[in-house]
Amino acid sequence: MHLLATTNGGLEAVAAAELAELVGADATVHHRGVVEFEGSVDDVYALLARSRTCHRVLEVLADGRVEDLEGIYDRARGVDLARHLPFADFGVVGTRHGDHGFTSVDVADRVGQAVIDGYREATGDRLPVDLDDPTVRLEAYLYDDRFTLAVDLTGDSLHRRPYRVCTHDAPLRATMAASMLRLASYTSGDRLVDPMAGSGTVPIEAALAATDSPPRPELDPALAALPRYDVATFQDRLAGLDRRDAPPSDLDLDLDLNLNLDLNLEARDRRERWCRCARVNRDAAGLSEVVEVVRADAREATLEADCVVVNLPFGIRVSEDLRELYRTFADRLREGGVDRLVALTTKPEFLPLEPRERYELPYGRLDATILVCEP
Ligand SMILES: C[S@@+](CC[C@H](N)C(=O)[O-])C[C@H]1O[C@@H](n2cnc3c(N)ncnc32)[C@H](O)[C@@H]1O
Repeated sequence: MHLLATTNGGLEAVAAAELAELVGADATVHHRGVVEFEGSVDDVYALLARSRTCHRVLEVLADGRVEDLEGIYDRARGVDLARHLPFADFGVVGTRHGDHGFTSVDVADRVGQAVIDGYREATGDRLPVDLDDPTVRLEAYLYDDRFTLAVDLTGDSLHRRPYRVCTHDAPLRATMAASMLRLASYTSGDRLVDPMAGSGTVPIEAALAATDSPPRPELDPALAALPRYDVATFQDRLAGLDRRDAPPSDLDLDLDLNLNLDLNLEARDRRERWCRCARVNRDAAGLSEVVEVVRADAREATLEADCVVVNLPFGIRVSEDLRELYRTFADRLREGGVDRLVALTTKPEFLPLEPRERYELPYGRLDATILVCEP
């Protein structure tokens, strides 16, 4: 099967590395924020249960060159729709990039019509359309003359982690935190500190990764509605991974070791309000004993760690001199002998460190940079 996975734009290589690790996939970039690869139904179950960097996994139904809207209609009509889709309401999301004489809404419309026509021809039934909350969500991408139609297998995006009970004013997307941890080559033996942790996303994601805990243990995937997938098999797979609530007698040796790993994870923030928030999220993730939350000022507090992964303040809500904050923070990193720093910022020029790697990415309406440094 040809599959797509969506992720944070600019971090496709990080998602591809995770896909290789989890299912042996050889993923390449389809377009910004989307990678493509070959995989099996089993790989889909594994990715929905374990991927930390991806947002959605989709199965490609049609893929090829087209010249115009009629070409798009023909490609979508060519799909064996009765084999792939249930009798259920569906919606098409169109995305277009390039020079065309029509819009992404036109793309979605033509695909929608082709799906209705093709399904009726095959089964005699007219599929109902629901654009707001469809049971079956189709993605139609037109990038220059390449048209790809895919069905979403995920449902609710994987970046919505259930532990996020308390929301920060400027929260880091959990999939981005997980990607930054990969860029930092974080492993369970490292002492990791996020000195400006806000609601605690980075150390919580580190703990979930170190214990191989599923990022979405409660996921009710969209594939449940699709004919070629077996949701019970997926749920079994997911339940097998999530051992945090299981009684100790049910744990095999490896998992027991995993849960008792001596993790060294600290979330710091100078504001008590965010320390409380981080504790709420940490506890919701079942990690009360694993992540320490400490009130400290990053300009002053000693910083001894193997790994620092941080979403630096961008200066929109902080009135203090941002350059000064970045400068004193860099001093603490050097004094503490920190091995690896991965920092997300919109002001990379303020950090007086030479990055080994940098990733440019859109962050809401801002342009941000992830810097990978060895301070
Ligand atoms: C962009 S937010 C981090 C958001 C976090 N990654 C999350 O997902 O919730 C930056 C945080 O840095 C904290 N902060 C700003 N200056 C600080 C300082 N000098 N020392 C410690 N924390 C600081 C702010 O209180 C804020 O919570």
